This record gives sequence, structure tokens and C-alpha cells, in this order.
Amino acid sequence: IIAGVKGRRVWDSRGNPTVEVDITLESGAVGRAIAPAGASRGTREAIDLRDGGKALRGKGVEKALVSVNGPIAAALKGMDVRDQVAVDQAILALDASPLKESLGGNATVATSLAVLHAAAADAGLPLWKHVASTYDCTPSLPLPEIQIFGGGAHAGRRVDIQDFMIMVPGARSFDEVMEVTNEVYFAAGDIMEQRGKLAGVADEGGWWPMFDSNEEALETLVKAIELAGEKPGDRVIISLDIAASEFGKDGRYRLALEDRELDQGEMIDMLGGWLDAYPIASIEDPLGEDDVEGMREFTRRFGDRVQIIGDDYLVTNAKLVEEAVGENACNAVLVKVNQAGTVSESIDTFRAARKAGWGAIVSARSGETEDVSISHLSTGLGGGQLKVGSFTRSERMVKWNECLRIQDELGADAFVRGAPLADTWWG
Ligand code: PGA
Ligand code: ZN
Repeated sequence: IIAGVKGRRVWDSRGNPTVEVDITLESGAVGRAIAPAGASRGTREAIDLRDGGKALRGKGVEKALVSVNGPIAAALKGMDVRDQVAVDQAILALDASPLKESLGGNATVATSLAVLHAAAADAGLPLWKHVASTYDCTPSLPLPEIQIFGGGAHAGRRVDIQDFMIMVPGARSFDEVMEVTNEVYFAAGDIMEQRGKLAGVADEGGWWPMFDSNEEALETLVKAIELAGEKPGDRVIISLDIAASEFGKDGRYRLALEDRELDQGEMIDMLGGWLDAYPIASIEDPLGEDDVEGMREFTRRFGDRVQIIGDDYLVTNAKLVEEAVGENACNAVLVKVNQAGTVSESIDTFRAARKAGWGAIVSARSGETEDVSISHLSTGLGGGQLKVGSFTRSERMVKWNECLRIQDELGADAFVRGAPLADTWWG
């Protein structure tokens, strides 16, 4: 039974204020979670409530804390912590706005996740185990997507494309993924240094993208994989987040770095050319969130050989996933709990994807903290993938490291290996 709900202001990896919530139960058990924050947000995702004004660049969270400590706390006190659906519905009942802007998505997500943590603590279970038993899933360690070069909104738009990542579906364990990633990450750093292009890291810890074209980043990534002693496309493959909504609107795509504008067809052709030339097995938001027709066409042409993930395009919304399944746009969904605003809505989205045979990738945001909820969620729901940024900076590493601790409990064999990418051309 929930006895107390307490919100406080803490600070995220970019130094911005964010919301932390503690849930205290009558049993004495406690659950805690922190809201992350995106930089390249979809227009249809839950909106964080920020104070505006001059102080803290308008990003203050006092209003969101008022939501937590006022109406949310009043509604949740006395509720059964095990009934996540009822708790999330009680939160939703307080906010009639379509994008949770009146309570604030930052207030709702921190509360909802803290409730999940409290229920696990009450049951005496690690969170991943609680998730697996509550939602009747077979837990497994996720296949990570790990950023080597940052870009887009996470690197001052130095290049247009947002994430240049690797996946290691050929690894036998989560541990092995970490080892291979270390080699590739530092090989990439060595190459940048040799070329006089080493200039620190972007928001999610990937190397700063000092490139003259978007494709140069891809070429460099292939070289880094080779320098690490791997055959690109074999054990290690490339994954991209184009985040096309950041530079595309109404079917026009403006590549600032290359000073050219592409129409929908040219954009699809350019990406298709990359799929032919490089060992890319997964691509996220290849077209803008408003470009339904482009997304359908891209999926028609490439959906049988590459994972196509909707992030800004689907904003962790089960209904949008169902629609996209119906119209054959994308074949996987990114699951960001703060895009939906509650745990229940996120899990509905995960399930909608799974029901359609789609991939589901639980994901962090570019603004993160020491919160490790997503490591547990992706493991507990099982059979999935996990995207948390790069292989430096503790707000990222804390998520990978938590998976290693879970691996010790769950056993190294519980790694998903090539699945759910196993049907792609390289698999
Ligand atoms: P964001 O980006 O957290 O800055 O929105 C992450 C992503 O696009 O996947
Ligand atoms: Zn994305």
C-alpha cells in the first residue's frame, strides 16, 4: 500500500534539472526513479512540464514537482502498489491533456517508474524479475545498440545523422558485447586521433563527429570495426538512427553538412545506397515523423532485409504501432518510457510490437541519469534490444553495468544473441 509520494529536483547528464520521485510503502519498502529528457523529441510524445522564464534557462521543474507532491501524491496514497495499471490510470485521470502537459510527462514518468520499483522492493525481487513475473515474460539480457559517433541534435548538428552505432548480434553473451564494443570504440578514437579529428565526445558519449560528410562517418565506423579485428557484417553490424525529423519536413530533407536538399525519393535512394554499401542491419527514423508515405515506401523496399525502427515516428504509442503495422510502415519500435509517460502505456507498446512480430528496443534519452530502470525493463520483458547511448560517461555505463549484474543472476546463457535481428540478410 502506497504511504508516501515525494518528488525532488535532481540534475541530469546535461546539467539540467529533472524530477526524482520516491514512493514509500506502508511496509517500509521504497521505490525511486528519475525522469530522463530528450533533445530530439517527437511532436506527439508526452511533454515535460518546465517552469519557463529566465532561471535555469526555463528548464526548472518546480511546476512538475507541484504535480507530484500535490495531486499525484493525493491520488496515489492508499493504492495497491502491485496494481501498476490502476496506478497509471489514476495518474492519467488527473490529466485530460493529450500529451500530459498539465501534470508534465517528467512528473508522470518518474512517479510511474518509482511505483514499479516500489512494487519490486515490496516483493523482495530485483526489478527485472518483478517485471518478468508481473507481465508474464521470459526474461533475457537484451542485445545492445551502442553509439560510436554522436551527431545531429546531440553534437551541435556537426553532422546531420544522429547515431552511428554498432550491434554485436554474433556475441555469445552480454559480456562479450561489452568487450567487442570497447575495442571498436577505442579503435574509432585512434582513427580520429590519427586524422587530427579527435575533439571530445557528444551528448551520449560517442566521439564528436568531425566529418566532411555523413558518409565519411560510416566509412570511418567500418574502418574502426576492422581495426578492432572484426569483419564488418559478421559478428559486428552497424545500426543508424537517422532521426530524420530533425532535418526533414513535408517530404524535404535538408542535409546541412553537405549543403543539399533531398526530396522523399532521393532520401530513400541515398539511404538505400548506404544499405547496399555498408553492413547496416538496423535503421531508425529513416524519414520524418510526418512522412508516412516515405516510411511505407522505405519499408516496402528494405523491410525484408533491415530492421526499421520508429522512434519520433511512433513515440512509444501502442495505437500508432498498431496503425503502422496495418499500413506496413516500420518493423520495430523504440520504447522510451518518458515518451509514453507511464510504465503501463510503454508496456502496451512493447506488447503491440511483439504481437505483430516486430522488434522492440527499450531506449534511454540523450539527457540521462544514474537511473537504471530501463536495463531491468528490457531484461524483464525479454527478447529485446537496449539502446542507451555510447560506451563512456557514467549515465550510459551505469545501464550496461547493471545488465552485467543481472547477467550474474540470470546466467550468461540468457542473452538473446542474434534475435530478433536473426532474420536480416546477414543473419
Ligand atoms: P533524444 O534522442 O533522447 O535526444 O530524443 C534519442 C533518440 O532519438 O533515439
Ligand atoms: Zn531516435
